[in-house]
Amino acid sequence: MSVPIAVIGAGIIGARHARLAAAEPECRLVALVDPAPAAAELAAELGVPHYAEPEAMLATETPEGAVIAVPNDLHAPVGIMCAERGIHLLMEKPVAESVAVGRSIVEAAERAGVAMMVGHHRRFDPALEAAKRIVADEIGGLIAVSAMWSARKPDPYYEVAWRRQAGGGPVLINMIHDIDALRHICGEIVSVYAETVPSRRGHPVEDTAAVVLRFASGALGTITLSDAAPSPWGWEAGTDDNPGIAASGQNCYRFVGATGSLDFPNLTLWRHQGEIPGGWQLPYVSEQRPLGERDSLAWQMRHFCRVVRGEEQPRVSGRDGLATLAATMAVHHSASSGGPVSPDK
Ligand SMILES: NC(=O)c1ccc[n+]([C@@H]2O[C@H](COP(=O)([O-])OP(=O)(O)OC[C@H]3O[C@@H](n4cnc5c(N)ncnc54)[C@H](O)[C@@H]3O)[C@@H](O)[C@H]2O)c1
Repeated sequence: MSVPIAVIGAGIIGARHARLAAAEPECRLVALVDPAPAAAELAAELGVPHYAEPEAMLATETPEGAVIAVPNDLHAPVGIMCAERGIHLLMEKPVAESVAVGRSIVEAAERAGVAMMVGHHRRFDPALEAAKRIVADEIGGLIAVSAMWSARKPDPYYEVAWRRQAGGGPVLINMIHDIDALRHICGEIVSVYAETVPSRRGHPVEDTAAVVLRFASGALGTITLSDAAPSPWGWEAGTDDNPGIAASGQNCYRFVGATGSLDFPNLTLWRHQGEIPGGWQLPYVSEQRPLGERDSLAWQMRHFCRVVRGEEQPRVSGRDGLATLAATMAVHHSASSGGPVSPDK
């Protein structure tokens, strides 16, 4: 049985979701909701009804699942409205603009007995799972990780008002993906210390951040982020998983352990020839692990269909997405308080 799905919000990411839902055999797109004229055109192209407001769509259609891809501060009103109608949620990240608001959506979904997934689609990337296994089993225990995301967003990206306002900067838009990936591979984050720099374009958001993380295991991590500096180092450039971002094939994370280290996403495992406790004088040997096919956003949509049918549990539940949001908000809290903070539970 194909699952009836509505896509609410048809901007950069919502339009991709709509096309994927229309093409996915396990669901059928029953409505596209967005007041923008481009959304009406996309709905016509895909042959589905178009609505300007979620209320109007809900008065007519009966989707079983909704993909919510509206600006962050509308996640709560739209998500709670859908949950209260018994509609399962695929909520884009971040869950909401704050942990408290995000919790209200998660609790509304729990009260209504609907499933809630959060759109951290990188969890569907096969390199992420491979890295998790290698870091757990093959580098002698994680000691530290260094992550980088730097790209220059084109100026028209910031013509959309919500991206210039608090919460629309690259910490909550981009770094949240890296924090989620690192939580998945390295375990829970217990402390965050951060410095941020205000936007050089003059918007009231940050454009650059440097972050120190401590994981529950005792391992340390750093993340360098900027959306003002062109570079080949970032998840999308390295994995080529976003048609809107140029591919570089370069690595964006480096994991180091007691007996070896791993470049990501190319999955090159580095060790010394010979036994530890030998060290830096020993020649290096490297081995590239096979990389599988990737189509994360499409696989997330298929998984959502199975979650709606009750066949699978959400790979990234509302509570899991909330923990990623809490660690990400800790970046802002640390930058404004000037000291390390624990993510808000
Ligand atoms: N998973 C990812 O990789 C990814 C990528 C980009 C954005 N996002 C997230 O997706 C969400 C949307 O981001 P975007 O970049 O696509 O934003 P966007 O501004 O391009 O699109 C948002 C759309 O929502 C529409 N909208 C506004 N109010 C609405 C309402 N009441 N009902 C229906 N539609 C409404 C707008 O007209 C707009 O078309 C954000 O939460 C963002 O963080 C996730």
